[in-house]
Amino acid sequence: MTGDRILLAMNGMDRDLWARLLAGKRPVAFEPDAADDPSIRFAVVWKHRPRVLEKLPNLKVIFSAGAGVDHLANDPGLPDVPIVRVIDPNLTQHMVDYVVWRVTDHHRQGMFYRAQQAERRWHEADQPVSGAVSVGIMGLGNLGRAAARALLAVGYKVNGWSRSERQVEGVTCFAGEAGLTPFLNATDILVVLLPYTAATHGIIDHALLARLRRDNGLGGACLINAGRGKLQKGADILRALDDGTLKEASLDVFEEEPLPADSPFWSHRQVFVTPHAAAASDPAHLTGPMLAQMDAFDRGEPLRDLVDRNAGY
Ligand SMILES: NC(=O)c1ccc[n+]([C@@H]2O[C@H](COP(=O)([O-])OP(=O)(O)OC[C@H]3O[C@@H](n4cnc5c(N)ncnc54)[C@H](OP(=O)(O)O)[C@@H]3O)[C@@H](O)[C@H]2O)c1
Repeated sequence: MTGDRILLAMNGMDRDLWARLLAGKRPVAFEPDAADDPSIRFAVVWKHRPRVLEKLPNLKVIFSAGAGVDHLANDPGLPDVPIVRVIDPNLTQHMVDYVVWRVTDHHRQGMFYRAQQAERRWHEADQPVSGAVSVGIMGLGNLGRAAARALLAVGYKVNGWSRSERQVEGVTCFAGEAGLTPFLNATDILVVLLPYTAATHGIIDHALLARLRRDNGLGGACLINAGRGKLQKGADILRALDDGTLKEASLDVFEEEPLPADSPFWSHRQVFVTPHAAAASDPAHLTGPMLAQMDAFDRGEPLRDLVDRNAGY
């Protein structure tokens, strides 16, 4: 072993808090101070500066500080070492909470009733029972499967779409290009929990939204995106809302973040905006498992939660 320091190369996360939580167990160094430090074998990164990791001669493992790893694609000099990503019950539960909140709000006409309350109007809208509503989840990974289980427990019908064939108890599963249209045709509320990759770039466009089921007891199709902003074409979503293809949308992520002050999404009465807040990485929950993985690696044991670099997630 050449050394034992962890490099923290982070932007947009509280680096000092991460350092405090890690430093009790292993010494920590910061980028750019430790630019070519041979004692660094592990790097914990979030939106790091490109080409800094390739200078570390003894880097063995990269830990993404979040569940998504699309931020790593910005580094053309990413070393060819294993990449571990976040799979954490606390983060997963936050996402499940967000999805259940947004699905039930769209289903129970939350936007309609909030607007009606502002006008002091008393009118009961049609409200089908959950068992008559189909929620379709794009991305049946760690987060998508957990959301599916929670939605099934509430009473919804749940469809799921993934790259490879999946079997999830109670969920009607579709896969690949051939499965996309039947999946969308059977979905009233679409929940996007895909990773952002070359294959999913801009996938949520007008043509995709037009394939959702609109002839339902909800008065139209709804979209919830808590994956990544670049999965969607914002202009297409606005067009779909305005021409009736889409009834409402809950968007946690945007092509440009923070959402610019002049974005039409802010004031659109059929859109609910949250600031990429569905499920944040909490270092209090993440550093322990990361340190445990480093210890396991040092004992020669296999790493868990590895990224498939070819697939990009
Ligand atoms: N908004 C937030 O606060 C927040 C927080 C955390 C994460 N996220 C986002 O949520 C994403 C999902 O996280 P996760 O942990 O559930 O990921 P995951 O476990 O890697 O699951 C990804 C799922 O997407 C599917 N998929 C990937 N590419 C596809 C394609 N081209 N066509 C069809 N399906 C495809 C995968 O299919 P297979 O099953 O066949 O592999 C898998 O089911 C993350 O990548 C991140 O971007 C957002």
